[in-house]
Amino acid sequence: MNPCKSVRAAVYGLLVLIVHSVVVISADFSYDDPDRWAETDPACAGSRQSPIDIVPSTTVAASDDEQSLKLHGFYRKPVSIRVENNGHTAQYTFVWSKDSHRPTVTGGPLHRDLYAFEQFHFHWGAEDDRGSEHTFDGQALALEVHFVFFNREYGTFEKAVEQPDGLTVLGALYNVRGDKAKGDAKWARPLPKIRDAGSATTVEGKDVFSLSEVAGGEWERYYSYPGSLTTPPCAESVTWIVRNGSIPVAPKDLRALRNLLDSNGEPLVDNFRPVQPLNDRTVTRYGF
Ligand SMILES: *[C@@H]1O[C@H](CO)[C@@H](O)[C@H](O)[C@H]1NC(C)=O
Ligand SMILES: [Zn+2]
Repeated sequence: MNPCKSVRAAVYGLLVLIVHSVVVISADFSYDDPDRWAETDPACAGSRQSPIDIVPSTTVAASDDEQSLKLHGFYRKPVSIRVENNGHTAQYTFVWSKDSHRPTVTGGPLHRDLYAFEQFHFHWGAEDDRGSEHTFDGQALALEVHFVFFNREYGTFEKAVEQPDGLTVLGALYNVRGDKAKGDAKWARPLPKIRDAGSATTVEGKDVFSLSEVAGGEWERYYSYPGSLTTPPCAESVTWIVRNGSIPVAPKDLRALRNLLDSNGEPLVDNFRPVQPLNDRTVTRYGF
C-alpha cells in the first residue's frame, strides 16, 4: 500500500470509530429525560406502556374459572449466577446445566402458554420514598424487582420481545425494614464487586441462590395488565404480573444497590420510569 493510501485508510478507520461511538452513546438512555425516549424508540410513546399506577379499587376481579398462576423451579438453584452492572441496573442471569432447568410460569393471565425465566433486575430510589416503578394508589415504595420471562413458543427472548404475548414480567415491591434488620441477603452480597458500570461477577458454590430467595415463593394475590418494557425500546410485549402488597428489604441491602455507579461515575439511583397513562386498559386482580 502506498503511504498516501494507508493514511487515508487510517483516517477513514478513525472516522468510522468516531461515528460508531457517537451512535452507541446516543442509543443509550438516561433516567434524566424519560419523556425523550420516544425520539429514538417510538414504541415508548405507545398506548400500552409501563409502569402504571395501580388503583386497587378500580381493578376488576378475574372470573372464578380462571386458573391460578403456576410457578415451577422458583426453589431450584442454578449452577452459577452472572451479576452485571449495566449502567442502568444490577442484572442477574442464571446459568443452568440444562435449559429444561429454567424456572417457568404459566396459568392465570398467561393461560396455557409457558414462559421461561431469562433474568431479574431491580429499580430503586436515592431515598426510601421512591424507587419502585409501579405504584399503588399513587404511592411508590423504595425498591421493585422484575423477574423477566419469555414465551417458550418463540424460542428466545430476542424473538419473543417482538410479539404482543412474548414476555411476562413478575414484579414485587419492597418496603424498608427497621434499622435493626441485619440484611445481607444473598442477592446483595455480590454488589460491592460490580460497583462500576460495565463490570460483572459470577456467583458460585454456596453463594448461589434461587428465585424464591429474592422475593419469596408466594404469588397468590396479584394484579395483571398488558404493558411494555420499562426501558427503551419499550416493546409492548409484556403481560405484567404485579404482586399485591410488599415484602421487606433490609436498609443494608438497599444501600448496597445505592452504592453502585452509573456510566458517568455518579451514584446509580432513581432508575425508575415514571408511571404511564392507563389509556383503555383494564387491570385485573387475581386471588382476591
Ligand atoms: C393487598 O396489599 C395491601 C397492602 O399491603 C394489604 O393491605 C391488603 O391486605 C392486601 N390484600 C390481600 C387480600 O391480601
Ligand atoms: Zn425492570
